[in-house]
Amino acid sequence: MTHRMNRRALIKGMAAAAVAVPAAGIAGGANASAATAASAATTADALAFDPDAYTEITTTISTDDGDREVTYHFWSAITYVTDPVDETYQSLTVSVPVSVDGTAVDATDAPILVSNSIGGYLPSSVSTNTSVSSSRAKLAIAAGYVAVEPGARGRTLVDSSGDYYGTAPAAIVDLKAAIRYLRFNAGTVPGDTDKIVTAGTSAGGALSALLGASGGSSLYDDLLDELGAADADDIVYATGAWCPITDLENADGAYEWNWGTNETGSGSEVDQTTSADLIALFETYQSSLGLTADDYGTVTADNLADYLLATYLEPAATSYLTDLSDDDRTTYLTANTFITWDGSAATFTWSDYLDHVGTRTKSIPAFDAFDLSAGENNLFGVDTTEARHFTDYSLANDTSGTGGSSLDSDIPAKLEMMNPMYFIGESNDDRAKYWWIRTGTSDSDTALTIVGNLALSLENLGDTVDAAMYWDGAHGADEDPAAFITWIADVTGYTG
Ligand code: DHB
Repeated sequence: MTHRMNRRALIKGMAAAAVAVPAAGIAGGANASAATAASAATTADALAFDPDAYTEITTTISTDDGDREVTYHFWSAITYVTDPVDETYQSLTVSVPVSVDGTAVDATDAPILVSNSIGGYLPSSVSTNTSVSSSRAKLAIAAGYVAVEPGARGRTLVDSSGDYYGTAPAAIVDLKAAIRYLRFNAGTVPGDTDKIVTAGTSAGGALSALLGASGGSSLYDDLLDELGAADADDIVYATGAWCPITDLENADGAYEWNWGTNETGSGSEVDQTTSADLIALFETYQSSLGLTADDYGTVTADNLADYLLATYLEPAATSYLTDLSDDDRTTYLTANTFITWDGSAATFTWSDYLDHVGTRTKSIPAFDAFDLSAGENNLFGVDTTEARHFTDYSLANDTSGTGGSSLDSDIPAKLEMMNPMYFIGESNDDRAKYWWIRTGTSDSDTALTIVGNLALSLENLGDTVDAAMYWDGAHGADEDPAAFITWIADVTGYTG
């Protein structure tokens, strides 16, 4: 890995010097060559991980197996690019366990969990963190892994000229830069940089899935070069994604297919004509994916409800009910007569399940709002424009008065850079091959099909996918955090 990086850096330097020679003459060429070498050295120095720059911290971390006293080395905010736009966000922390309950831990070859805390596609900063922060990262170090917590730019950031500098694809470019930083420092940064596992929830889950799916893609190279990202690749080994808010350009139709008849918070149904239009778009999209599942053949909008019921919803209810005491199960089943319980398995209909969930979280369209009021409209803002349309349908039905007659020309490329389904559709060979995917059955922040299609498309490529839903789980639920930590050991083969 290091060998390849150095060779690439050298070739880049040589190319720059060769261009300089004819323009500036022999002497100028030599100077340019020296300057290039100096700047390469500066870049390498600036992005060199300092193994000694830590503070030692001891803390108690509660795990499923009880409290653990963990002593770890903590590297506070390290800027992971040489030309940051905003270091507040473009930095990461590193936490490396050195002992757990008094027993020494050697994390030299441990998996590295890169756990982001991004929500809402908003800016996320670790710049003032003084210790390991997220519960997922804490569990990772208690298990003897390295935990990296990256910040990233987000959609609401505006500079003094009024330019939005954290809209798409800034967050994924930043996270990729963070991965490149780690791999660039292979051997000095603790942990095995060939066993990087990403994690995140909601928008953070979407970005984690995108890191996993798009690893090694050259689509982001120019943007990464502009930031002075480290000269290393951004392939990750495994990916955890909880309720990923992703596949945004297809999510409005998916949402209506799933939640179209559920009432909004104000107690009314959304406009059913619009809902039907969007469902029609979704039906075409779902067929175009060409996904197949045992017992279903091609999974289309026609058999998708049955597929989701049998694959996720009924198993989730079964698992939930199995874990209850006899009394609590009886109480639950009495309150939820739509569930048939045969003593070991739950069955019910899709329509009863929808009634059970009740209110839908979002209005219509859920993501590309006609009036540009959705967070995702802001995600696709650019320059001094706060919010834009990113689907033809919502553009055609714009009520903001700023829509225009066609999507802005930069939108298609940005949609690709933000959507893991694009890279999975391309069978990107460098993608993560191990996937942990979870969502709650009561989470109507997006359609269940988003999660179902993500998992099934990866299964169809032959990846190892552990996908499940949490019965009655709300948006952001993570009900088996310890199992994810164990899964990391399973898929990486790490035994400590
Ligand atoms: C998140 C939630 C949403 O409903 C959404 O549209 C985007 C992001 C979140 O919780 O991160």
